[in-house]
Amino acid sequence: MKLSRIISNQNGVSRRLANQLLAAGRVLVDGRVCRDGSVDVPRFEEVRIDQHIVQQAQPAYYLMLHKPAGYLSATRDEQHPTVVELIEPDLRAHLHIGGRLDRASTGLLILSSDGQWSRRLTEPAIKIPKVYRVTTAEPISPQTSERFAEGIWFEFEQLTTSPARLEQLSDREARVTIFEGRYHQVKRMFHAVGNRVTSLHRESMGSLILDPGLPIGGYRHLTKDEISSIG
Ligand code: URA
Repeated sequence: MKLSRIISNQNGVSRRLANQLLAAGRVLVDGRVCRDGSVDVPRFEEVRIDQHIVQQAQPAYYLMLHKPAGYLSATRDEQHPTVVELIEPDLRAHLHIGGRLDRASTGLLILSSDGQWSRRLTEPAIKIPKVYRVTTAEPISPQTSERFAEGIWFEFEQLTTSPARLEQLSDREARVTIFEGRYHQVKRMFHAVGNRVTSLHRESMGSLILDPGLPIGGYRHLTKDEISSIG
C-alpha cells in the first residue's frame, strides 16, 4: 500500500495532515525517515509516526521445498495431499506457491508469504530461467533442441513459447531450460514434437538451486542472498 494511504487510514489523519507529517520527517519506515508518500510499503515493513506504530511489520517467509511426487502444488485439496502439508503448521496459512509443479513432478518448489517477490519468479516478462531434468518415453530426436529454440506454438494460448534450451544427457534424458512457466509447459513442448515426458524434476529457478542436502519432502528457509538474488 502507498505510504500516504497507510498514514491517512489512521483515525483523525486527513490527506493533508498525512502530507504534512511526511514533509516534517515524522514518518519512519523500518526506522528510516521517509518523506515520499508515493512509495509502496510492503506489509513486511513497520511504519511509525513518531513513536506510534501505525503498521506492524508482518513476518515474511521464503522457503525452498524438495517436492515429492504425488503432492499437489496447492494450499488445499479434498483428494490429494498438498505441498503445504509438508510445512510446519504455524507457517502454512501465510504461504503461497511461486511457480507450481504438476502433481507427478518433483524438485525445487518455492513458497513465500511475499506475493510481490514470488511473482517475479513466474512473471513471463521477467524471463527467469527454470531448469528441468526430463525423461521421455521415446528417444529424443535430433530436431527437438532446434524446435525448442525456435519456440513451440501453443494453440490454446495463441502464442509461441520463448526460445528454450535443450541439453541432451542420454537417449531419453535431457536438461531443459525454459524462460516462462506456462501450464504443463515442458510436457506440452515434448508433446508438440511427438514425444511424451515420463518424469520431470526441477533443478533451479534463476539463481535458486535445489539444495542437494534437502531430503525429498524437506524444506529450508532461503538465505538473505538467495532472497535478494530475485531482484
Ligand atoms: N512443465 C510441466 O509440464 N510441468 C511442470 O510441473 C513444470 C513445467
